[in-house]
Amino acid sequence: MMDTTLLVGPVLRFDGNPMDGSWQDAVRIDTAGAVLVCDGVIKVVGSRDTLLQDHPQAARIEYADDHLICPGFVDAHVHYPQTGIIASWGKRLIDWLNEYTFPEEMRLSDPAYAQAVAARYLDLTRAHGTTTVASYCTIHAHSVDALFTAAAERNQRVVAGKTCMDRNAPEGLCDTAQSAYDDSKTLIERWHDNGRASYAITPRFTPTSTNDQLAALGALWAEHPDCLMQTHLSEQVDEIAWVRALRPETRDYLDTYEAHGLIGERAVFGHAIHLEPREIDRIAETGAALIHCPTSNTFIGSGLFDMAGLAARHLPVGLATDTGGGSSFSMLRTMAAAYEIGQLRGTPLHAAELIWLATAGSARTLHLADKIGSISIGYEADITVLDLSSTPAIAQRHAQAKDMWESLFATIMMGDDRAIADVWIAGIKSVAA
Ligand code: GUN
Ligand code: ZN
Repeated sequence: MMDTTLLVGPVLRFDGNPMDGSWQDAVRIDTAGAVLVCDGVIKVVGSRDTLLQDHPQAARIEYADDHLICPGFVDAHVHYPQTGIIASWGKRLIDWLNEYTFPEEMRLSDPAYAQAVAARYLDLTRAHGTTTVASYCTIHAHSVDALFTAAAERNQRVVAGKTCMDRNAPEGLCDTAQSAYDDSKTLIERWHDNGRASYAITPRFTPTSTNDQLAALGALWAEHPDCLMQTHLSEQVDEIAWVRALRPETRDYLDTYEAHGLIGERAVFGHAIHLEPREIDRIAETGAALIHCPTSNTFIGSGLFDMAGLAARHLPVGLATDTGGGSSFSMLRTMAAAYEIGQLRGTPLHAAELIWLATAGSARTLHLADKIGSISIGYEADITVLDLSSTPAIAQRHAQAKDMWESLFATIMMGDDRAIADVWIAGIKSVAA
């Protein structure tokens, strides 16, 4: 017997990329829409009347007209091990890593603690409407097993990789070039394309990897070119100066990766705020993706990502919390911060662009755009339903909104986990943990 569910209510639809032209041509809201889900997959998307008539046997879930059926949020750059130190005060990147991050990541040397954090992290983020994340783990191979196992138990699509570091980190958090290669290879064989898991080769960033380690991971990627490769790029000015001092022979920060084959279509660079023109040209040429982490960039004091300039170059750009450098688990809050950074640069993003970035845009950077991030036929039914009047403050704004876009924007700017009415994972309604 097929498991068939009909979700009825306003539906967010994508017909293209709103960053590429006018958003009106690419994104729309069907106020009298419906979505038919069969065995975890979206089978039909259309009008409420037609689908109710054609599928009378389906289990029916009706959402009121102040709700919006959206793709599940895709958070394209996170560090799940930093869950416990989110919102730690007063440091900039390098001191923040040494003071808060590395000691906490050290605690995940205990497999039981890693398992507890992985489970807590996925439950927290799902409660905020996030159905897929791309996460850094710690140097411990078991921290990768912990996340993929927790994700498999929840049937969630997750991208993750063992973070590799062999210098400029505490002794207990360092691997070697050889062990980074060996452990990552074993994890790829265990997890890549295993159910809904996919593996990302993960050198943390140039300051914490020797040339030998970056070369070893470049070689591993060449052997497994269908994996993603995720790392950090040009997040903070002091970091860039450090990279220059460590690698004076290179042309720029990107070149420190390029020199070891760590660039390509499946490369995903987090932050990328202070880019040189050559770096932008090279990223555009290779098709590599950039991930904007706005709450992190203001929280750690990194700078203002040039979304408009980079989108004009048609670079794949995703959106992410960067938990725990970012100060929120919520992709709504993250969209709000992206809007605010756009305002500071004089290029505000429309609600349609923000929600596209948090779903289809992020999915595209992870090369998952044919599976998740859109309410479209054949897609996996990872669906987040928003309540657009979730608090008295938002409800009174919703009551005065002239259309759904105005209402959605108020929820983006002011909403939190209370705005998440339901989360569907591969067609099954998720229950709160
Ligand atoms: N650069 C290298 N590691 C990290 C990290 O854990 N968080 C952030 N925000 N930047 C980094
Ligand atoms: Zn990061």
